[in-house]
Amino acid sequence: QGIALTDAHGRRITYLRASITDRCNMACVYCMPPGGEDEHAMRSDVLAFEELVAITRALATGGVRRVRLTGGEPLARRDVVRLVAMLRAGTPIEALAMTTNGARLTTLARPLREAGLDEVNVSIDSLDRDRFRAITRGGDLDEVLAGVHAALDAGMVVKINCVALGGLNDDELGAIVDWAWSIGIVPRFIELMPIGEAAALPRERFVAAREIVSRLGARVAPDASATKPDGKGPARYLAAADGSGREVGFITAVSDEFCGGCNRVRITSRGELRACLASRRAVSLRDLVREGASDLDVLWATAWSLGVKDTGHHFADVHADEHERVGMSLIGG
Ligand code: GTP
Ligand code: 5AD
Ligand code: SF4
Repeated sequence: QGIALTDAHGRRITYLRASITDRCNMACVYCMPPGGEDEHAMRSDVLAFEELVAITRALATGGVRRVRLTGGEPLARRDVVRLVAMLRAGTPIEALAMTTNGARLTTLARPLREAGLDEVNVSIDSLDRDRFRAITRGGDLDEVLAGVHAALDAGMVVKINCVALGGLNDDELGAIVDWAWSIGIVPRFIELMPIGEAAALPRERFVAAREIVSRLGARVAPDASATKPDGKGPARYLAAADGSGREVGFITAVSDEFCGGCNRVRITSRGELRACLASRRAVSLRDLVREGASDLDVLWATAWSLGVKDTGHHFADVHADEHERVGMSLIGG
């Protein structure tokens, strides 16, 4: 229909991150308050499957090719397998991925794969059971590891997301790489972003990518040049020093802002379009589709939102108190 989604700074939008629930069966220390968020969207506020399919189809006409389902915990959404099948049947997207804590993959990996889910990124911040339980406030590491294997067995591409946390897991980052490589998957380290709960954590929790690389010792050559696959997320990858072709990824949101290459928009479980992770500015696509909007109406609303999209997240700006109120579990990272 002739609108290519491009923002005010010339960035093409090809990637949609859709949060499908604000609930989670864990409550990671950097993501949720103890006991989890106390307010959740009411059922009628949450975008229905048909509505998400309609919005995705509209955005696909504007150039969106890749969709990632997030949360909260996306596997906590009832009937998520049916949603995956509906997105596959009802939209022309090329890749469908999910970011999950992995606990429910043991039973869901195979049906999800059969319904059309291609990739999962599983969050694992520690391989020590007690630490894992402490960081996730109750998560069961063995269950998540079984989930990773279930996803591999089902034929999905699996990556590991590990948020580096000073004093909590920074002594085991090398071990996490060794484990991931031993089962043939790519580990990725994420710099803690000062958003929501994480904004209140002590400073020493933040570990910069440069420090992470040094903790990996001889596994990667420090002068290796990073690669960045097209059409995917902000991670950049370094190759193993041994020439085996294995890789480790880095998401350097704080030390090396990557916003210039941003290719994505987000939609919350309530159906609000957010042009940037770090901004509360939102447009309700839900209200539009509930009023019977056409694909073109949805595209125009999205294009408007992109027209006011900032150049970057400005985490370093101490006056950006907006960040504290952007709940990570609402927008799915
Ligand atoms: P791939 O498609 O596999 O590359 O996924 P991804 O890295 O885009 O998604 P994932 O959900 O695994 O996110 C990994 C980390 O990157 C999380 O901490 C996200 O919050 C963060 N992240 C993803 N996209 C953005 C972004 O546009 N801006 C910022 N600041 N962080 C992002
Ligand atoms: N900073 C960096 N990463 C975060 N995640 C959640 N909160 C933060 C934060 N403040 C990660 C999760 C998951 C992904 C969706 O985002 O660990 O891997
Ligand atoms: Fe749940 Fe993921 Fe947030 Fe952890 S980071 S509390 S697993 S939504």
